[in-house]
Amino acid sequence: MLWEDKVVLLTVLFIHISSLTAGSGEGQDNVQCAALNSTRWLEYRRQRATLQVQYLLLTRKNSDCAQRFNQDLVNKQSYFSFSHPTKVIIHGYRPLGSNASWVTELAQALLRAQDVNVLVVDWLYGASSAYNVVVENYKEVALQISVLINQLQKHGSKPESFHFIGVSLGAHVAGFVGTLFGGTIGRITGLDPAGPMFKGADTYDRLDPSDAQFVDAIHTDSDYFGISIPVGHVDYFLNGGQDQNGCARSRFATMFGYVICDHMRALHVYVSALNGSCTLMGIPCSSYEDFLKGSCVDCGVFKGRCPVIGLSENSGISVSPLPKEQKVFLLTTSSAPFCAHHILVKLEVSPLDKSAEVEVMLRTESLGTEYRFKLQTAVTVYRRVLAHPAALCEIHSIRLKNTGARFYRQADVHVKSVCISALPVLRHEEPLCVNNINIRRGAPWSHDFVQVCGTL
Ligand SMILES: *[C@@H]1O[C@H](CO)[C@@H](O)[C@H](O)[C@H]1NC(C)=O
Ligand SMILES: *[C@@H]1O[C@H](CO)[C@@H](O)[C@H](O)[C@H]1NC(C)=O
Ligand SMILES: *[C@@H]1O[C@H](CO)[C@@H](O)[C@H](O)[C@H]1NC(C)=O
Repeated sequence: MLWEDKVVLLTVLFIHISSLTAGSGEGQDNVQCAALNSTRWLEYRRQRATLQVQYLLLTRKNSDCAQRFNQDLVNKQSYFSFSHPTKVIIHGYRPLGSNASWVTELAQALLRAQDVNVLVVDWLYGASSAYNVVVENYKEVALQISVLINQLQKHGSKPESFHFIGVSLGAHVAGFVGTLFGGTIGRITGLDPAGPMFKGADTYDRLDPSDAQFVDAIHTDSDYFGISIPVGHVDYFLNGGQDQNGCARSRFATMFGYVICDHMRALHVYVSALNGSCTLMGIPCSSYEDFLKGSCVDCGVFKGRCPVIGLSENSGISVSPLPKEQKVFLLTTSSAPFCAHHILVKLEVSPLDKSAEVEVMLRTESLGTEYRFKLQTAVTVYRRVLAHPAALCEIHSIRLKNTGARFYRQADVHVKSVCISALPVLRHEEPLCVNNINIRRGAPWSHDFVQVCGTL
């Protein structure tokens, strides 16, 4: 698709989005509460106003009712606390100056998790032109933010107490603020950092690990609006980082759902991680294909501690020096809380004289996960990582089925062993194995496990 076509598409999409969000009206009747500037883009254009960044402040004292915040208010009455860390939320591209309902959701999730100041950067005007014009604006936005941060520092906030969370293009805005502070900012989290016009950019112009003491990024749409290269110390590629479960993939689905669903998934997964109902852990690996093939099964490069999405310091890893641009992979489910259990299936068969296909199904009550192994004559050992909704110890049965083509006689398959283990693989844990199985066409084999989840 030509770049111009994409811009047109984007514009159409955002008209759709703004019509969806317009009526949602959170905190409707309280006129005192500040909101993202909703002045229409066209009005701005008429006024020829220059880019002006505005800020909203939310704290535990006013989590339902944002306060306008600017450097003149630093000394005056404000909920801002200099003894608390500060989270700075930066949104991305929004062509029609509509506000973003997720902003409140993210801010409130942060406040539930930690007692912090949440500053929401409102640059809707700057983010509301054609994408290429917006990209020209983003450094100006970063400059204006850095003036405010400087001011807050003069009053006692430490650079390391700032954590920027940038969505899409907002991630590169955060990166440039980081560059302006020489990497002294505490942390930057990029939620599907924007790809178009940034992938080939110099690290000075995009988010990179030198922008903060710790940079993490979540990638969910790296083949379209997201960036495909790692940009942080740790980069989580969810389901490979391109296409997300539950986002319509058919040609007949609306482009709206298709495009925005993948891109915005990073944000929803992050909010879910902040909610803290389960752990979203990544496994380091050089590629998604190798990860799926079970070539990467532990977090040895991090001395055994796997990075976890969320607010724990340095994603929970404690190696020094920190890794750079380390890709980590995880599979997710299609809806909140998104956590899946990674189960490695290892199948070993006796040599075959023709190719065959075997389906493996893991069951936990009504939940099933299946995968079809395509067996070749030259290979006898197969591995695959599956996302199962329950833990290994809750798997009640495993079923194997010979699913080879009907049209030629497929021989029986002799399975020497089928083993399952949970990722990350821990040294003292033995896989669960069943040995010596013959599976004939039309006669599925299944085995029940009697297991109890460990209470040590
Ligand atoms: C979005 O706009 C609506 C209606 O103008 C407003 O009630 C709401 O508070 C705004 N949300 C944010 C996050 O600014
Ligand atoms: C939006 O920003 C413009 C320009 O800074 C300002 O004049 C206007 O009052 C703002 N509107 C709201 C609703 O905050
Ligand atoms: C996070 O928790 C809040 C409050 O319990 C809930 O409204 C929201 O839907 C949750 N979001 C996700 C993505 O889990």
